[in-house]
Amino acid sequence: MSRLDTSGDDYRARRAAMLAKLAELDAEHARAVAGGGPKYVERHRARGGLLARERIELLVDPDSAFLELSPLAGWGTEFPVGASVVTGIGVVEGVECVIVANDPTVRGGSTNPWTLRKTLRAADIALANRLPLINLVESGGADLPTQKEIFIPGGRVFRNLTRLSAAGIPTVALVFGSSTAGGAYVPGLSDHVVMVRERAKVFLGGPPLVKMATGEEAEEEALGGAEMHARVSGLADHLAADEHDALRIGRRIVRNLNHRRAGPAPGPVREPRHDADELLGIVPEDLRVPFDPREVIVRIVDGGEFDEFKPLYGTSLVTGWARLHGHPIGILANARGVLFSEESQKAAQFIQLANQARTPLVFLQNTTGYMVGTDYEQGGIIKHGSMMINAVANSTVPHLTVVMGASYGAGNYGMCGRAYDPRFLFTWPSAKSAVMGPAQLAGVLSIVGRAAARARGQDYDEAGDAAMREMVERQIEAESLPFFLSGRLYDDGVIDPRDTRTVLGLCLSAVGNAPVPEPAGFGVFRM
Ligand code: COA
Repeated sequence: MSRLDTSGDDYRARRAAMLAKLAELDAEHARAVAGGGPKYVERHRARGGLLARERIELLVDPDSAFLELSPLAGWGTEFPVGASVVTGIGVVEGVECVIVANDPTVRGGSTNPWTLRKTLRAADIALANRLPLINLVESGGADLPTQKEIFIPGGRVFRNLTRLSAAGIPTVALVFGSSTAGGAYVPGLSDHVVMVRERAKVFLGGPPLVKMATGEEAEEEALGGAEMHARVSGLADHLAADEHDALRIGRRIVRNLNHRRAGPAPGPVREPRHDADELLGIVPEDLRVPFDPREVIVRIVDGGEFDEFKPLYGTSLVTGWARLHGHPIGILANARGVLFSEESQKAAQFIQLANQARTPLVFLQNTTGYMVGTDYEQGGIIKHGSMMINAVANSTVPHLTVVMGASYGAGNYGMCGRAYDPRFLFTWPSAKSAVMGPAQLAGVLSIVGRAAARARGQDYDEAGDAAMREMVERQIEAESLPFFLSGRLYDDGVIDPRDTRTVLGLCLSAVGNAPVPEPAGFGVFRM
């Protein structure tokens, strides 16, 4: 049942604020889609190349959903938004696959530090959920000016490919253009390789490097052209006439994988009873004002049906069972921000129950962290918070996290933040995440600075303190915002609240490709 008053001023103000944030989000996504900008896009087209997103569209089943991941990677850094690669989960011949497509319009599709993080994240998703990995390759390899950030950790990209294969998870490389130096190991370590005639160039060293190394005057096509690899070296399994042909062959390869889902099949699906549009008007602009997460839950779960667990105990945390697109789930959602001992114990028990039942968990975050103060310390808040964190850390059922509002302090950990490896983590535009709120953080620095001055027997510089506070508050606020955090790959994307059900449904479906994990063995619970 919903108590949301959709005719009130509060609702209208919240909705307007969320729509304004979504307009900013659209503008940032547009930057990612623009890739290297008109000049490079036109040059690429003039050469007959398809753009990364066009390649993906032709690869996946018509009208199927593509769940793009980390589109804002690199935001707020010196590199273009999107980080010169497109990643996501798409359906090819009925099989959910992780797709990684270099964007050749951005610095020749070369890999910068954010491209690397994004590519590694995609491989982790493939491994955890047993999804075949398809690389659409056209890349100048390492971004040479930042090679120090990528050369050594970048080896993991290739290691991941062969570890996926060893785990029985198929890997496919469709090579559209340059795949040079380290990049040559993408086809080298993939199970299936397709190269486009006259376009694919795969060599450990291009002609200039060969000349430097051995003095040989090598010719590009003989050194690493698609024909050569298909007829002479055997690195290519298929020679494609053009890009469309390569994508067609890629689809046939996936069809012949006979890849089967190992997880449980979902049950029948029922739509929620309330309109998803109303999700825009739930989170207040000022995150200090609490909101009822049940208003979110009824708008995202099947039939709006939510069976609450321990509704009368530890009421700052809402826990309970529901179905989402036919998948059974357990939900933990913050109600009033702060987590007390009762909430922590309730969470630990609920997580154990979900593990007994092998039911995936969805965390809906809006937390300012665990309660501080003498009474709470004496009441064992550290022990109880640790109990919750222990349960989250060792739980083996799949976790999905959505940061709706605040995500501060150890609340971020207990509610399965990024470091706790949820299978997927998405953020709403209203979210904010930091070790603590900007005003609290600046205030703590001020108190510490004042005490230090007193200890040195000096007067405290009050004007300097005010300026410091203002500067720190502004910095922490900027660093808490979703675009900034998404730019650093601390989530898998910032989503429109109205898409939450669809995104979680796609994630639960992806998760179901892997078998139900072994039951959890928890660490010692400090009672
Ligand atoms: N690192 C950094 N920037 C790179 C780059 C790399 N590895 N590869 C290309 N770029 C830049 C180019 O300098 C150029 O920048 P500009 O337009 O500002 O001058 C832009 O990306 C486009 O490159 P360009 O060579 O014009 O594109 P192309 O489509 O004709 O050729 C490549 C693409 C990848 C074949 C070619 O750029 C190349 O051979 N790059 C170097 C490959 C290499 O040896 N990498 C070493 C990997 S360890």
